[in-house]
Amino acid sequence: MTEKAKFDLVVYGATSFVGAITAEYILSKYGIGGDVSWAIAARSPAKLAALKEKLGEGAADLPTLIANSDEEASLADVCAQTRLVISTVGPYALYGEKLVKVCATSGTHYCDLTGEVQWISAMLDKYGETARESGALIVNCCGFDSIPSDLGTHFLQNYATETTGGPCETVEFGVEAAKGEFSGGTVASLLNVLKEAGADPSLRKKLADPYLMCPDDYHNTAKQRTEARYYSDALKSWCAPFVMAGINTRIVQRTNALQGNRYGENFRYSEYTMTGDGFRGRLGSIAMTLGMGGFMGVLALPPTRWLAEKFLPKPGEGPSKEVQEAGFFKIKLAGTTSSGEVVRVRVTGDRDPGYGSTAKMLAEAGLCILDTAETGKNAGGFWTPASLMGDALVERLEANAGLTFETL
Ligand SMILES: NC(=O)c1ccc[n+]([C@@H]2O[C@H](COP(=O)([O-])OP(=O)(O)OC[C@H]3O[C@@H](n4cnc5c(N)ncnc54)[C@H](OP(=O)(O)O)[C@@H]3O)[C@@H](O)[C@H]2O)c1
Repeated sequence: MTEKAKFDLVVYGATSFVGAITAEYILSKYGIGGDVSWAIAARSPAKLAALKEKLGEGAADLPTLIANSDEEASLADVCAQTRLVISTVGPYALYGEKLVKVCATSGTHYCDLTGEVQWISAMLDKYGETARESGALIVNCCGFDSIPSDLGTHFLQNYATETTGGPCETVEFGVEAAKGEFSGGTVASLLNVLKEAGADPSLRKKLADPYLMCPDDYHNTAKQRTEARYYSDALKSWCAPFVMAGINTRIVQRTNALQGNRYGENFRYSEYTMTGDGFRGRLGSIAMTLGMGGFMGVLALPPTRWLAEKFLPKPGEGPSKEVQEAGFFKIKLAGTTSSGEVVRVRVTGDRDPGYGSTAKMLAEAGLCILDTAETGKNAGGFWTPASLMGDALVERLEANAGLTFETL
C-alpha cells in the first residue's frame, strides 16, 4: 500500500450478486467524491460497465479497476491504489488466495464474506506472519457469518461483566426468526466445502475441531456442546441445528483466544435454530433436525449432489430486491455464568440476513477497519470482527446498517 493511496477502499468482485448490493449501499450512503474515496473492481470490463449503468447516474464517476483473481500482478495493481480491499469473489477457496497473499505482503487491509473455515485456516498458516510484518489488518467473515455471532457474544459478555461482575462461561446463540434466501455464490461455496471434505478425511477431522482457528499455542480443553437437538433453559426453547454454526462457533472461539481468554478459560459457545417451547417446539426441533440432516446428506453424496445442483441457485443468482427488503433476522443470545446467573441479549437486522443485511455489514466493517487502522493500536494479522473492532463496529452497525443490539 502506498503512503497516500488513491482510494480508501475497493469493492473487488463488485459484479457478484452480493458485491453489487454492497456497491449500491456504499453509493447510497457515502456517495462519490465525499469523505470515502472508493472504486469497484472485477475481472470483466463489460460486467463492470453494466453494473455502473444499473447503479444509475450517481455512479457515472465511480472509478473501475480490472483484476483477475488468477493474476497476481493485476491484484497487486489494485492493492497499490487502495488502503483496503473488500472482496466478494467466491468461493474463496477457489479464487481467494492470491488476493490475501498480495494484501498481506503489501500491507493492504482486507475484509471478506468467506465462511470457508478450511480456507481461512490455511490462509492463517500461510500468510499470518507476513500480515503481521506488513501491518495488514485482515478480517474474514464480515457478513451474517459471523458478525451477529461474534459481536452479539462481545455485546453479551460486556453486559454480563457489567451486571454480574464477570463474563459468562457458556453462551448459546438461537435464531428466533429469520427470512431470506440463498444466492448461487453461497451454494457454490457450501458445495465446494462438502466436495473438499468428501475427498479428504484429514480435512473432515479439522472441520470438527471447535478450536480450528485458534492460534497453535492456544489451549482450551472445555468440551463444546455437540447435541443436534435439545431443550435450552437459558434460551427457553427447544433447539435444532443451525446451518452456519460450524463457521460462527470457530470465529467466536478465535475471538476469545485472541483476547487472552476474555470470555474465560472454559468458555463454551454453541448455535441453534430455536423452535419454541412446549410440545410444538419439541416437534419442530425433531422435524428441523431431520430436515437438515436429510439436506446435508443429499449434498454430501456426489450423485444426489449433482441432482440437487440442478435445482439450486447458480453463481450470480440470488434473492430479489423485494425478498431482501421483506427479509429480517432476530437472534437471541443467552449466557450463563459459572454461578448459574443468566443474561440475555438480542441482535436484529432489517434486511434478509445473507444479502441485504450482509452487504451493509460488510461495507461498514470495511470502513471500521480503516478507522481502527488510523488509531495504530492493532498489529497486522488475521483478526475477527469482535477482536479488532468490538464496540466501534456495534456502534457503526446500529447507526448505519439497520442492526440493533439490545439487552433483555
Ligand atoms: N458470510 C455471509 O454471510 C455471506 C453472505 C453472502 C455471500 N457470501 C459469500 O460471498 C461470496 C460471493 O457470493 P455471491 O452470491 O455474490 O457470488 P456470485 O454472484 O456467484 O459471484 C462470484 C464472483 O466471483 C467472481 N469471480 C469468479 N472467478 C473470478 C476470477 N478468476 N477473477 C475475478 N473474479 C472472479 C465472479 O466474477 P464475474 O462477475 O465476472 O462472473 C463474481 O463476481 C460467496 O463465497 C458466498 O459464499 C457470504
